Amino acid sequence: MWTFLLLIPWIFSLRIDESKTLSKIAFGSCHHHKRPPNPKIFYSITNWSPDLYIWLGDSVYADIPYFYIATYPRNLSSWKQLYDNLKENPGYKELRNTTMVTGVWDDHDYGINDGDKNFILKKEAKTLYLEFLEEENSKRLGHEGIYDSYTFGKKGKSIKIILIDIRSFRDNKWDSEGDSLGEDQWKWLEKELNNPGDITILANGLQINAQERWIKTERWHRKSYQKLLYLLNKTPGVILLSGDVHMGEILKNTCENFPIYEITSSGMTHTAFTTFGPLVWIPAYGIMSFTYNTGPRILKFNFGTIEVDWNTGDIEMAIRDSEGKYLFLEKTSIGELYSKPKKSYLCEKSEAYRSSAHILAMLLVYLFPIAEICIAILIFLRKYSRSY
Ligand SMILES: *[C@@H]1O[C@H](CO)[C@@H](O)[C@H](O)[C@H]1NC(C)=O
Ligand SMILES: *[C@@H]1O[C@H](CO)[C@@H](O)[C@H](O)[C@H]1NC(C)=O
Repeated sequence: MWTFLLLIPWIFSLRIDESKTLSKIAFGSCHHHKRPPNPKIFYSITNWSPDLYIWLGDSVYADIPYFYIATYPRNLSSWKQLYDNLKENPGYKELRNTTMVTGVWDDHDYGINDGDKNFILKKEAKTLYLEFLEEENSKRLGHEGIYDSYTFGKKGKSIKIILIDIRSFRDNKWDSEGDSLGEDQWKWLEKELNNPGDITILANGLQINAQERWIKTERWHRKSYQKLLYLLNKTPGVILLSGDVHMGEILKNTCENFPIYEITSSGMTHTAFTTFGPLVWIPAYGIMSFTYNTGPRILKFNFGTIEVDWNTGDIEMAIRDSEGKYLFLEKTSIGELYSKPKKSYLCEKSEAYRSSAHILAMLLVYLFPIAEICIAILIFLRKYSRSY
């Protein structure tokens, strides 16, 4: 009877075990309780049988919208209730029962839209978040914020997971000179990157290689982005993960010492398309530049996957739909992650050039056909309208 009771936590949620070698990792973000639930996506993740699932933020939406312009934090009991409800979601329950789960927060599970270091409930938020992940003895309790790292598997087949806390130490997003990680987290990150895995996965809520986009989704502060690139230039084998933007895409930055892939998976219950409708095609397929894109922006519900074949060194990175089918697949290898990339001509250009050139190209693609259609209509009217 007592042994049975002791076993319960292990039966219902698999614990992190760093002695395991990982070859399949899944991840996702943006799970809203007010949207139609999508338990299927959790079943699909489970069926894909990952060794580890990583939350990239916004696992719950703990903030309450205020006239569409701002949000305020909800009380702690209803906040906890959101996590409890998610834990009761049958799809998530099954995932939790069969797969190791970890994660980091972004703004909405931190407790406030676009939240930064000044959020007053960050201690309470941390307690609730670690309770949600069932990390009673978490290493993260030893410091402020929720950054953490794990190294799974032995040398030769090791994957290091670095979880970045992009909220607790972040200066306000409008502070252009601001810092995204805070001094302690930077020191820690530098140490972690000095001691990488064969593959190192750096996971956080915000998109990283998105500096030059005209539509300013939230992002790393410019100086912090450059500081991160400086560290990544000394560390081969890194893949970045991000969420937040309610779409999926796979980016590849070839402007540094090693190719830096970034997989963005966002939108388990809602995407920019389900929120804004076809209007979102204008930014997603038009205005937002594609400097680092390896493929399209994905506006369907999605989760992301990385699969490593340790025998060949091949790596498959994918964005998948609620059924688990590929929406986009990109292949690389450990060899490629450790080699000098072939630089794109855009690397030499300034950020302003990149985004302006993109806007100009988009005008040519969209505005010219529209102008032509207008002229054709005018000619037609002129020819056939008697009143003319
Ligand atoms: C907390 O918020 C919920 C929902 O907004 C509300 O129903 C509940 O009464 C609140 N509880 C307290 C203690 O204020
Ligand atoms: C969890 O897994 C165990 C065996 O691995 C099984 O007996 C149990 O029914 C599962 N629970 C849920 C909620 O899926």
